[in-house]
Amino acid sequence: MCGIVGYVGSRDSIEVLLEGLARLEYRGYDSAGVAVVADGSIDMRKRGGKLSVLRESLDADVLPESGTGVGHTRWATHGGPTDENAHPHLGDDGKLALIHNGIIENFGELRAELESAGEAFESETDTEAAALMLGRIYRETGDLTLAMRRLVARLEGQFTLLATHADHPQLVVGADHNSPLLIGFGEGENFLGSDVNAFVKYTKKAEALGNNQIVTITPDSVNVTDFDGNVVTDNKTFEISWDAAASEKGGWSSFMAKEISEGPEAVENTVRSRIKDGLVRLDESEMFSADVLSQIDRIVIVACGTASYSAMVGKYAIETWTKLPVEVELAHEFRYREPAVTQNTLVISISQSGETMDTKMAVQYAKQLGARTLAICNTQGSTIPRESDAVLYLHAGPEVAVASTKAYLAQVVGQFLFGLHLAEVLGTMSDGDIREITDALLALPEQLRQTLETGKEVRELAHWMSDTRSVLFLGRHVGYPVALEGALKLKEISYIHAEGFAGGELKHGPIALIEPGQVVFVVVPSSRTQPTMHSKIVSNIQEIKARGARIIAVAEEGDAAVMPYADVVLRYGTTNPMLAGVLAVVPLHLFALELATAKGLDVDQPRNLAKSVTVE
Ligand code: F6R
Repeated sequence: MCGIVGYVGSRDSIEVLLEGLARLEYRGYDSAGVAVVADGSIDMRKRGGKLSVLRESLDADVLPESGTGVGHTRWATHGGPTDENAHPHLGDDGKLALIHNGIIENFGELRAELESAGEAFESETDTEAAALMLGRIYRETGDLTLAMRRLVARLEGQFTLLATHADHPQLVVGADHNSPLLIGFGEGENFLGSDVNAFVKYTKKAEALGNNQIVTITPDSVNVTDFDGNVVTDNKTFEISWDAAASEKGGWSSFMAKEISEGPEAVENTVRSRIKDGLVRLDESEMFSADVLSQIDRIVIVACGTASYSAMVGKYAIETWTKLPVEVELAHEFRYREPAVTQNTLVISISQSGETMDTKMAVQYAKQLGARTLAICNTQGSTIPRESDAVLYLHAGPEVAVASTKAYLAQVVGQFLFGLHLAEVLGTMSDGDIREITDALLALPEQLRQTLETGKEVRELAHWMSDTRSVLFLGRHVGYPVALEGALKLKEISYIHAEGFAGGELKHGPIALIEPGQVVFVVVPSSRTQPTMHSKIVSNIQEIKARGARIIAVAEEGDAAVMPYADVVLRYGTTNPMLAGVLAVVPLHLFALELATAKGLDVDQPRNLAKSVTVE
């Protein structure tokens, strides 16, 4: 959840660290800090609050220029977001600086041991125990890499650590255990980071450390070993496929606004190169063989949050197209029960970041149980795809806003691609039927662009509703997960009560919430392709309208049946019923953005949240 960056080279490290932290701030924005090695000592500055507070402090009182340093942006776990608890933490009488992402579970025990040995703590963090312990081990060895190796043997939990020491002016050492760390290779300089955003401005050549590895970087060398000290040479280097500018705000008011506008491109880039002659062609080197696919008798999709709602949309399509049973399960629920999984079960994980701890643990558990695992993921070099048997990469580009928008769209179409591929292999759809869907998929980007044009209408709606304290969302079929997604987005960034329901559930309880003036968004299925469900939802609308609700219908173009009952109608384009969940979500994403903006909230960095949830 925290963002980590390390640098050695000839640039001014403060500049590199602040640039990296600015691009990593979405991982945590409670507090931030940097430490550099200069003139045989460590100089450190850290501040509670957003990165801008640290920047102001560094502008007012500069640190000495140095080519070696580490930087951290925090999402607090142990200890509140204060100056003292911000990272780095010092060890070896202030000669060593350490930063950390993750949780050190045995820190209480370590703290007691260190205190009885005379070490004094300045913070409430688990990290400081690791810093002080590393300092003590270093004093015995004089070798920072060796000291790190001995330190990690003492730690329980999950962590990425970076350390630098005043005795070694051009060296940074990192370690990872169940937490991501990437290397960026430069010319006469090297970088470390929680993800490639940390260094994409300076180099496109990257490599992800495997689990339980230690890396030592100097300006001219990168050495990786496992925790036992054996040299590692088989980590895969890759080229970052997007430019630094892609993760910049450009002229947009927020990353979220920018990313919503990039939805059409995210879908286009994910889909277009995979459709050949109307059929889906996935990269053979990353996908299962047809033999393996034909043995699959059940699919379980694991994910969290928005990714799990995308999975619920995917389920409708994959089950319809492949005739295989498909279940969706929250990754953290799957992980702690005894699911009936066999070697013929395919467990698909969906993750934008590829680092969500709950999802990663579910994938590891599925493998232990003998299942085959496929990752549908947006982030190159991330852990979940590396730990899965096969991968389908999404090409949504970097997503910086904490609230996921364009990645949701890519996640849904990524599942469609896999579903169609599997249907072809299993022979459950004719080529003609597949082509009908791929045509509809290829039409989505343009339809998304048209749906984005509802922006102005949605803005007016949001202004009108800026004092609203509760919003309900209703949907059927793929409109149901869309309703859940609309409610989640609103909670996340507007901090108001929002709930999503399946239309059919209304009379089983939620209708009691309806009172005069209650706003209800209703995601309406197509009257052309789903007439029965359409008439059911129109009945739902009448029922709640009769009780005084204000109805905002999200309905297909040309659907006149909702007009007499809806206070506002937002439109999405005509498409295949399975694909409607891609279009209908856009007005809801826009609404969440506009309502939070109207309330004057920070839409990119909502309170208490971080983009990449790398702790359980
Ligand atoms: C909500 C949101 C989260 C993520 C969830 C999973 O807007 O972004 O609910 O969808 O934390 O994250 P990934 O997809 O990175 O595994």
